[in-house]
Amino acid sequence: MTAKEQIGLDRRRGLDGSRILLGVTGSIAAYKGADLASRLTQRGALVDVVMTGSALEFVTPLTFRSLTHRPVVTRLFDVESESSMEHIALAESSDVIVVAPATADLIAKAANGLADDLLTCILLATRSPVVLAPAMDGYMFENPATQENLARLLSRGYIVVGPEEGRLASGQVGKGRLADVADIIGAIGLALGRNGDLAGRSVLVTAGGTQEPLDPVRRLTNRSSGKMGYALAEAARDRGAGVVLISAPTGLRPPYGTQMIPVTTAQEMMDAVARQAAETDVLIMAAAVADYRPSFAADNKIKKSGKAMTLVLEETPDILMEAKALGLIKVGFAAESQDLVVNARQKLEKKGLDLIVANDITAEGSGFGSETNRVTIIHRGGKMEELPTLMKSEVAHQVLDRVVALVSARPKGKG
Ligand code: C5P
Repeated sequence: MTAKEQIGLDRRRGLDGSRILLGVTGSIAAYKGADLASRLTQRGALVDVVMTGSALEFVTPLTFRSLTHRPVVTRLFDVESESSMEHIALAESSDVIVVAPATADLIAKAANGLADDLLTCILLATRSPVVLAPAMDGYMFENPATQENLARLLSRGYIVVGPEEGRLASGQVGKGRLADVADIIGAIGLALGRNGDLAGRSVLVTAGGTQEPLDPVRRLTNRSSGKMGYALAEAARDRGAGVVLISAPTGLRPPYGTQMIPVTTAQEMMDAVARQAAETDVLIMAAAVADYRPSFAADNKIKKSGKAMTLVLEETPDILMEAKALGLIKVGFAAESQDLVVNARQKLEKKGLDLIVANDITAEGSGFGSETNRVTIIHRGGKMEELPTLMKSEVAHQVLDRVVALVSARPKGKG
Protein backbone atom coordinates (compact mmCIF):
# COMPACT_ATOMS: atom_id res chain seq x y z
CA MET A 1 0.00 0.00 0.00
CA THR A 2 1.37 3.43 -0.89
CA ALA A 3 1.66 6.22 1.70
CA LYS A 4 -1.17 8.04 -0.07
CA GLU A 5 -3.45 5.00 0.02
CA GLN A 6 -2.65 4.48 3.70
CA ILE A 7 -4.17 7.78 4.74
CA GLY A 8 -6.88 7.70 2.09
CA LEU A 9 -5.43 10.55 0.04
CA ASP A 10 -6.29 8.77 -3.19
CA ARG A 11 -9.96 8.70 -2.22
CA ARG A 12 -12.26 10.99 -4.18
CA ARG A 13 -14.42 13.21 -2.02
CA GLY A 14 -17.14 15.80 -2.42
CA LEU A 15 -16.84 17.58 -5.74
CA ASP A 16 -13.67 15.77 -6.68
CA GLY A 17 -14.61 12.97 -9.07
CA SER A 18 -18.30 13.83 -9.04
CA ARG A 19 -20.39 14.14 -12.21
CA ILE A 20 -22.23 17.42 -12.37
CA LEU A 21 -24.74 18.43 -15.00
CA LEU A 22 -24.80 22.21 -15.32
CA GLY A 23 -27.88 23.65 -16.99
CA VAL A 24 -27.50 27.21 -18.24
CA THR A 25 -30.57 29.24 -19.15
CA GLY A 26 -31.09 32.59 -20.86
CA SER A 27 -30.23 35.26 -18.33
CA ILE A 28 -27.59 37.96 -18.39
CA ALA A 29 -26.04 36.02 -15.49
CA ALA A 30 -25.22 33.18 -17.92
CA TYR A 31 -21.63 34.40 -18.04
CA LYS A 32 -21.33 33.64 -14.32
CA GLY A 33 -22.29 30.06 -15.21
CA ALA A 34 -18.96 29.96 -17.02
CA ASP A 35 -17.11 30.89 -13.82
CA LEU A 36 -19.04 28.17 -12.01
CA ALA A 37 -18.17 25.58 -14.69
CA SER A 38 -14.52 26.56 -14.44
CA ARG A 39 -14.35 26.36 -10.66
CA LEU A 40 -16.16 23.01 -10.53
CA THR A 41 -13.76 21.60 -13.13
CA GLN A 42 -10.79 22.91 -11.13
CA ARG A 43 -12.15 21.12 -8.08
CA GLY A 44 -12.04 17.81 -9.97
CA ALA A 45 -15.67 17.50 -11.08
CA LEU A 46 -16.68 16.23 -14.53
CA VAL A 47 -19.01 18.93 -15.75
CA ASP A 48 -21.50 18.33 -18.58
CA VAL A 49 -23.12 21.53 -19.74
CA VAL A 50 -26.59 21.75 -21.23
CA MET A 51 -27.57 25.14 -22.64
CA THR A 52 -31.09 26.23 -23.46
CA GLY A 53 -31.84 28.03 -26.73
CA SER A 54 -32.01 31.41 -25.03
CA ALA A 55 -28.75 30.82 -23.11
CA LEU A 56 -27.09 30.67 -26.55
CA GLU A 57 -28.05 34.32 -27.03
CA PHE A 58 -25.84 35.29 -24.09
CA VAL A 59 -22.83 32.93 -24.16
CA THR A 60 -21.47 30.39 -26.60
CA PRO A 61 -21.04 26.65 -26.16
CA LEU A 62 -17.36 27.17 -26.97
CA THR A 63 -16.93 29.10 -23.71
CA PHE A 64 -18.14 26.15 -21.65
CA ARG A 65 -16.43 23.59 -23.80
CA SER A 66 -13.10 25.35 -23.37
CA LEU A 67 -13.54 25.47 -19.60
CA THR A 68 -14.84 21.95 -19.02
CA HIS A 69 -13.00 20.15 -21.86
CA ARG A 70 -16.21 18.28 -22.55
CA PRO A 71 -18.90 18.48 -25.21
CA VAL A 72 -21.70 20.94 -24.57
CA VAL A 73 -25.23 19.88 -25.48
CA THR A 74 -27.74 22.41 -26.71
CA ARG A 75 -30.60 20.57 -28.43
CA LEU A 76 -32.88 17.69 -27.58
CA PHE A 77 -32.67 16.15 -31.05
CA ASP A 78 -29.15 17.01 -32.11
CA VAL A 79 -28.19 14.64 -34.93
CA GLU A 80 -24.91 16.46 -35.46
CA SER A 81 -23.90 16.41 -31.83
CA GLU A 82 -20.53 14.80 -31.13
CA SER A 83 -22.02 13.57 -27.95
CA SER A 84 -23.76 10.25 -27.89
CA MET A 85 -25.42 11.27 -24.61
CA GLU A 86 -29.14 11.61 -24.69
CA HIS A 87 -31.34 13.09 -22.03
CA ILE A 88 -32.09 9.95 -20.06
CA ALA A 89 -28.43 8.97 -19.96
CA LEU A 90 -27.46 12.48 -18.89
CA ALA A 91 -30.16 12.53 -16.24
CA GLU A 92 -29.03 9.19 -14.86
CA SER A 93 -25.29 9.60 -14.97
CA SER A 94 -25.14 12.87 -13.04
CA ASP A 95 -24.62 12.87 -9.28
CA VAL A 96 -26.21 16.28 -9.08
CA ILE A 97 -27.92 18.68 -11.48
CA VAL A 98 -27.43 22.40 -11.05
CA VAL A 99 -29.23 25.05 -13.05
CA ALA A 100 -27.33 28.34 -12.84
CA PRO A 101 -28.66 30.75 -13.76
CA ALA A 102 -32.25 29.51 -13.60
CA THR A 103 -34.75 31.89 -15.23
CA ALA A 104 -38.36 32.37 -14.12
CA ASP A 105 -39.35 30.46 -17.29
CA LEU A 106 -37.19 27.41 -16.44
CA ILE A 107 -38.51 27.44 -12.85
CA ALA A 108 -42.11 27.58 -14.09
CA LYS A 109 -41.54 24.70 -16.51
CA ALA A 110 -39.82 22.55 -13.89
CA ALA A 111 -42.57 23.23 -11.33
CA ASN A 112 -45.19 22.11 -13.84
CA GLY A 113 -43.34 19.11 -15.25
CA LEU A 114 -43.00 20.57 -18.74
CA ALA A 115 -40.42 18.89 -20.93
CA ASP A 116 -40.09 20.81 -24.18
CA ASP A 117 -36.31 21.02 -24.43
CA LEU A 118 -33.27 19.04 -23.35
CA LEU A 119 -32.83 20.66 -19.92
CA THR A 120 -36.47 20.35 -18.88
CA CYS A 121 -36.51 16.71 -20.10
CA ILE A 122 -33.47 16.01 -17.93
CA LEU A 123 -35.09 17.65 -14.91
CA LEU A 124 -38.18 15.51 -15.38
CA ALA A 125 -36.22 12.31 -15.89
CA THR A 126 -33.61 12.63 -13.15
CA ARG A 127 -33.57 11.04 -9.73
CA SER A 128 -30.48 12.97 -8.67
CA PRO A 129 -30.63 16.01 -6.38
CA VAL A 130 -31.26 19.33 -8.14
CA VAL A 131 -29.82 22.72 -7.19
CA LEU A 132 -31.43 25.84 -8.68
CA ALA A 133 -29.77 29.26 -8.65
CA PRO A 134 -32.45 31.71 -9.80
CA ALA A 135 -31.51 34.96 -11.52
CA MET A 136 -34.06 37.38 -12.90
CA ASP A 137 -35.61 40.81 -12.62
CA GLY A 138 -36.73 41.65 -9.08
CA TYR A 139 -40.43 41.98 -9.95
CA MET A 140 -40.37 38.65 -11.79
CA PHE A 141 -38.86 37.03 -8.71
CA GLU A 142 -41.38 38.63 -6.35
CA ASN A 143 -44.32 37.63 -8.52
CA PRO A 144 -46.54 35.11 -6.67
CA ALA A 145 -46.35 32.82 -9.72
CA THR A 146 -42.55 32.51 -9.35
CA GLN A 147 -42.79 32.24 -5.57
CA GLU A 148 -45.39 29.46 -5.81
CA ASN A 149 -43.33 27.62 -8.41
CA LEU A 150 -40.23 27.79 -6.19
CA ALA A 151 -42.22 26.64 -3.16
CA ARG A 152 -43.40 23.60 -5.12
CA LEU A 153 -39.87 22.75 -6.18
CA LEU A 154 -38.58 23.18 -2.61
CA SER A 155 -41.28 20.82 -1.36
CA ARG A 156 -40.01 18.26 -3.90
CA GLY A 157 -36.52 18.43 -2.40
CA TYR A 158 -34.91 20.92 -4.78
CA ILE A 159 -32.21 23.07 -3.20
CA VAL A 160 -32.68 26.74 -4.10
CA VAL A 161 -29.66 29.00 -3.60
CA GLY A 162 -30.20 32.75 -3.80
CA PRO A 163 -31.09 35.02 -5.44
CA GLU A 164 -29.30 37.88 -3.71
CA GLU A 165 -30.28 41.51 -3.26
CA GLY A 166 -28.39 44.07 -5.25
CA ARG A 167 -28.20 45.99 -8.45
CA LEU A 168 -29.90 44.15 -11.31
CA ALA A 169 -29.15 44.39 -15.03
CA SER A 170 -32.32 46.49 -15.45
CA GLY A 171 -30.78 49.17 -13.22
CA GLN A 172 -33.32 48.35 -10.52
CA VAL A 173 -32.08 47.39 -7.05
CA GLY A 174 -33.84 44.31 -5.77
CA LYS A 175 -33.72 40.60 -5.12
CA GLY A 176 -32.82 38.75 -8.28
CA ARG A 177 -29.04 38.59 -8.61
CA LEU A 178 -27.52 35.16 -9.09
CA ALA A 179 -26.13 33.79 -5.80
CA ASP A 180 -22.41 34.11 -5.28
CA VAL A 181 -20.63 31.28 -7.10
CA ALA A 182 -19.05 30.16 -3.76
CA ASP A 183 -22.56 29.66 -2.37
CA ILE A 184 -23.68 27.71 -5.46
CA ILE A 185 -20.67 25.43 -5.00
CA GLY A 186 -21.62 25.11 -1.31
CA ALA A 187 -25.16 24.12 -2.30
CA ILE A 188 -23.76 21.48 -4.69
CA GLY A 189 -21.61 20.14 -1.81
CA LEU A 190 -24.71 20.01 0.38
CA ALA A 191 -26.63 18.12 -2.32
CA LEU A 192 -23.81 15.64 -2.93
CA GLY A 193 -23.47 15.04 0.81
CA ARG A 194 -27.07 14.07 1.44
CA ASN A 195 -26.12 10.43 1.85
CA GLY A 196 -22.61 11.08 3.13
CA ASP A 197 -20.93 9.28 6.02
CA LEU A 198 -21.96 12.04 8.47
CA ALA A 199 -25.62 12.18 7.35
CA GLY A 200 -27.89 12.44 10.38
CA ARG A 201 -25.04 13.65 12.62
CA SER A 202 -24.54 17.12 13.99
CA VAL A 203 -21.13 18.69 14.13
CA LEU A 204 -20.23 21.83 16.07
CA VAL A 205 -17.14 23.62 14.83
CA THR A 206 -15.48 26.66 16.38
CA ALA A 207 -13.22 28.86 14.30
CA GLY A 208 -11.19 32.06 14.27
CA GLY A 209 -9.31 33.93 16.97
CA THR A 210 -11.37 35.33 19.83
CA GLN A 211 -11.02 39.03 20.62
CA GLU A 212 -10.84 40.26 24.21
CA PRO A 213 -11.68 43.96 24.74
CA LEU A 214 -9.29 46.27 26.50
CA ASP A 215 -11.33 49.40 25.93
CA PRO A 216 -13.99 50.39 23.34
CA VAL A 217 -11.30 50.64 20.64
CA ARG A 218 -8.68 48.00 21.40
CA ARG A 219 -8.77 44.23 21.62
CA LEU A 220 -6.31 41.47 22.42
CA THR A 221 -6.41 38.81 19.76
CA ASN A 222 -4.21 36.40 17.77
CA ARG A 223 -3.28 35.62 14.18
CA SER A 224 -5.84 32.88 13.49
CA SER A 225 -7.46 33.35 10.06
CA GLY A 226 -10.31 30.89 10.70
CA LYS A 227 -9.51 28.99 7.47
CA MET A 228 -9.00 25.59 9.14
CA GLY A 229 -12.29 25.82 11.05
CA TYR A 230 -14.22 26.98 7.99
CA ALA A 231 -12.69 24.15 5.94
CA LEU A 232 -13.87 21.70 8.61
CA ALA A 233 -17.38 23.16 8.57
CA GLU A 234 -17.56 22.85 4.77
CA ALA A 235 -16.14 19.34 4.72
CA ALA A 236 -18.60 18.17 7.41
CA ARG A 237 -21.47 19.74 5.43
CA ASP A 238 -20.29 18.00 2.25
CA ARG A 239 -20.38 14.67 4.11
CA GLY A 240 -23.99 15.16 5.17
CA ALA A 241 -23.63 16.55 8.71
CA GLY A 242 -25.80 19.31 10.10
CA VAL A 243 -23.17 21.92 10.90
CA VAL A 244 -23.17 24.75 13.42
CA LEU A 245 -20.18 27.06 13.06
CA ILE A 246 -19.39 29.26 16.05
CA SER A 247 -17.02 31.82 14.67
CA ALA A 248 -14.91 34.59 16.13
CA PRO A 249 -14.45 37.48 13.65
CA THR A 250 -12.73 36.44 10.40
CA GLY A 251 -12.63 37.86 6.89
CA LEU A 252 -14.23 34.68 5.53
CA ARG A 253 -17.60 34.14 3.88
CA PRO A 254 -19.93 32.04 6.07
CA PRO A 255 -20.08 28.58 4.46
CA TYR A 256 -23.38 28.00 2.66
CA GLY A 257 -25.72 25.56 4.32
CA THR A 258 -24.24 25.81 7.81
CA GLN A 259 -25.72 27.63 10.79
CA MET A 260 -23.30 30.35 11.72
CA ILE A 261 -23.19 31.87 15.22
CA PRO A 262 -20.91 34.90 15.35
CA VAL A 263 -19.12 35.59 18.66
CA THR A 264 -16.29 37.84 19.75
CA THR A 265 -14.87 36.78 23.13
CA ALA A 266 -13.86 33.44 24.67
CA GLN A 267 -16.74 33.79 27.14
CA GLU A 268 -19.26 34.31 24.31
CA MET A 269 -17.82 31.32 22.48
CA MET A 270 -18.12 29.21 25.62
CA ASP A 271 -21.74 30.27 26.17
CA ALA A 272 -22.59 29.48 22.54
CA VAL A 273 -20.92 26.05 22.75
CA ALA A 274 -22.80 25.33 26.00
CA ARG A 275 -26.14 26.23 24.35
CA GLN A 276 -25.48 23.95 21.36
CA ALA A 277 -23.79 21.03 23.13
CA ALA A 278 -26.94 19.05 23.91
CA GLU A 279 -27.81 18.90 20.20
CA THR A 280 -24.34 17.90 19.07
CA ASP A 281 -22.59 14.61 18.32
CA VAL A 282 -19.14 16.05 17.65
CA LEU A 283 -17.35 19.17 18.93
CA ILE A 284 -14.35 20.33 16.93
CA MET A 285 -12.53 23.21 18.60
CA ALA A 286 -10.48 24.69 15.78
CA ALA A 287 -10.79 28.20 17.24
CA ALA A 288 -7.75 29.92 18.65
CA VAL A 289 -9.34 30.86 21.95
CA ALA A 290 -7.55 33.52 23.95
CA ASP A 291 -6.02 31.95 27.06
CA TYR A 292 -5.98 35.32 28.83
CA ARG A 293 -8.13 38.44 28.71
CA PRO A 294 -7.74 41.88 30.30
CA SER A 295 -9.17 41.52 33.80
CA PHE A 296 -10.76 44.89 33.34
CA ALA A 297 -12.08 46.45 30.12
CA ALA A 298 -12.17 50.26 30.35
CA ASP A 299 -15.46 51.99 29.51
CA ASN A 300 -13.61 54.78 27.72
CA LYS A 301 -10.60 54.80 25.45
CA ILE A 302 -7.42 54.50 27.51
CA LYS A 303 -5.32 57.65 27.13
CA LYS A 304 -1.55 57.98 26.98
CA SER A 305 -0.16 58.85 30.40
CA GLY A 306 3.51 59.34 29.53
CA LYS A 307 4.40 56.37 31.76
CA ALA A 308 4.81 52.63 31.16
CA MET A 309 1.55 50.75 31.42
CA THR A 310 0.96 47.35 32.97
CA LEU A 311 -1.93 45.24 31.72
CA VAL A 312 -3.39 42.81 34.20
CA LEU A 313 -4.74 39.67 32.51
CA GLU A 314 -6.87 36.87 33.85
CA GLU A 315 -7.38 33.38 32.47
CA THR A 316 -10.38 32.77 30.22
CA PRO A 317 -12.59 29.74 30.82
CA ASP A 318 -11.31 26.67 28.96
CA ILE A 319 -14.15 25.61 26.69
CA LEU A 320 -12.91 22.06 26.15
CA MET A 321 -12.32 21.55 29.88
CA GLU A 322 -15.87 22.69 30.57
CA ALA A 323 -17.12 20.22 27.93
CA LYS A 324 -15.10 17.37 29.47
CA ALA A 325 -18.02 15.69 31.18
CA LEU A 326 -20.26 15.82 28.09
CA GLY A 327 -20.60 12.63 26.13
CA LEU A 328 -19.59 14.23 22.84
CA ILE A 329 -16.77 13.28 20.57
CA LYS A 330 -14.25 16.05 21.20
CA VAL A 331 -11.51 17.13 18.85
CA GLY A 332 -8.99 19.80 19.86
CA PHE A 333 -6.27 21.63 18.02
CA ALA A 334 -2.82 22.38 19.35
CA ALA A 335 -0.88 25.09 17.58
CA GLU A 336 2.61 24.87 19.00
CA SER A 337 5.93 26.53 18.34
CA GLN A 338 7.95 23.99 20.36
CA ASP A 339 7.72 20.41 21.67
CA LEU A 340 4.73 19.80 19.40
CA VAL A 341 3.91 16.21 20.28
CA VAL A 342 4.64 16.43 24.02
CA ASN A 343 2.47 19.53 24.42
CA ALA A 344 -0.32 18.16 22.25
CA ARG A 345 -0.43 14.86 24.15
CA GLN A 346 -0.65 16.72 27.46
CA LYS A 347 -3.59 18.77 26.16
CA LEU A 348 -5.37 15.68 24.89
CA GLU A 349 -5.05 14.03 28.32
CA LYS A 350 -5.89 17.11 30.36
CA LYS A 351 -8.92 18.12 28.30
CA GLY A 352 -10.23 14.56 27.85
CA LEU A 353 -10.19 14.66 24.05
CA ASP A 354 -10.75 11.87 21.56
CA LEU A 355 -8.35 13.41 19.03
CA ILE A 356 -5.96 16.31 18.94
CA VAL A 357 -4.68 17.86 15.74
CA ALA A 358 -1.24 19.27 16.37
CA ASN A 359 0.51 21.68 14.08
CA ASP A 360 3.89 23.29 14.30
CA ILE A 361 3.15 26.91 13.45
CA THR A 362 6.80 27.59 12.69
CA ALA A 363 6.91 24.97 9.88
CA GLU A 364 6.68 26.10 6.26
CA GLY A 365 3.21 25.75 4.66
CA SER A 366 1.59 25.39 8.05
CA GLY A 367 -0.45 27.44 10.47
CA PHE A 368 -1.98 30.91 10.43
CA GLY A 369 -3.43 32.32 7.23
CA SER A 370 -1.87 29.60 5.08
CA GLU A 371 -3.98 27.59 2.59
CA THR A 372 -2.11 24.46 3.64
CA ASN A 373 -1.38 22.77 6.92
CA ARG A 374 0.98 20.08 8.11
CA VAL A 375 -0.49 18.27 11.07
CA THR A 376 0.01 15.30 13.34
CA ILE A 377 -3.17 13.63 14.54
CA ILE A 378 -2.93 12.06 17.98
CA HIS A 379 -5.60 9.64 19.20
CA ARG A 380 -6.78 9.11 22.75
CA GLY A 381 -5.16 5.66 22.90
CA GLY A 382 -1.79 7.16 21.97
CA LYS A 383 -1.76 6.38 18.24
CA MET A 384 -0.02 9.13 16.29
CA GLU A 385 -0.33 9.90 12.58
CA GLU A 386 1.95 12.40 10.89
CA LEU A 387 0.34 13.75 7.69
CA PRO A 388 2.15 15.47 4.83
CA THR A 389 1.54 19.15 3.97
CA LEU A 390 -2.00 19.25 2.60
CA MET A 391 -4.62 21.82 1.61
CA LYS A 392 -6.67 22.75 4.67
CA SER A 393 -9.76 21.26 2.95
CA GLU A 394 -7.94 17.92 2.71
CA VAL A 395 -6.71 18.15 6.32
CA ALA A 396 -10.36 18.71 7.24
CA HIS A 397 -11.41 15.50 5.47
CA GLN A 398 -8.56 13.60 7.11
CA VAL A 399 -9.73 14.75 10.55
CA LEU A 400 -13.33 13.87 9.66
CA ASP A 401 -12.28 10.38 8.48
CA ARG A 402 -11.12 9.76 12.06
CA VAL A 403 -14.27 11.36 13.48
CA VAL A 404 -16.46 9.13 11.28
CA ALA A 405 -14.70 6.04 12.64
CA LEU A 406 -15.45 7.22 16.22
CA VAL A 407 -18.99 8.36 15.51
CA SER A 408 -20.09 5.23 13.68
CA ALA A 409 -19.61 3.29 16.89
CA ARG A 410 -22.36 5.40 18.49
CA PRO A 411 -26.13 5.46 17.95
CA LYS A 412 -27.63 8.33 15.93
CA GLY A 413 -30.15 10.68 17.38
CA LYS A 414 -28.88 13.99 18.64
CA GLY A 415 -28.73 15.72 15.28
O1 C5P B 1 -4.88 27.22 23.84
P1 C5P B 1 -4.57 25.75 23.82
O2 C5P B 1 -3.31 25.42 23.10
O3 C5P B 1 -4.73 25.09 25.16
O4 C5P B 1 -5.71 25.14 22.86
C1 C5P B 1 -5.87 23.75 22.69
C2 C5P B 1 -7.32 23.45 22.37
O5 C5P B 1 -8.15 23.93 23.43
C3 C5P B 1 -7.85 24.08 21.10
O6 C5P B 1 -8.70 23.14 20.48
C4 C5P B 1 -8.64 25.29 21.61
O7 C5P B 1 -9.71 25.59 20.73
C5 C5P B 1 -9.15 24.81 22.95
N1 C5P B 1 -9.30 25.89 23.94
C6 C5P B 1 -10.49 26.01 24.63
N2 C5P B 1 -10.68 27.03 25.53
C7 C5P B 1 -9.68 27.89 25.80
C8 C5P B 1 -8.44 27.76 25.13
C9 C5P B 1 -8.29 26.76 24.21
O8 C5P B 1 -11.39 25.19 24.40
N3 C5P B 1 -9.87 28.85 26.68
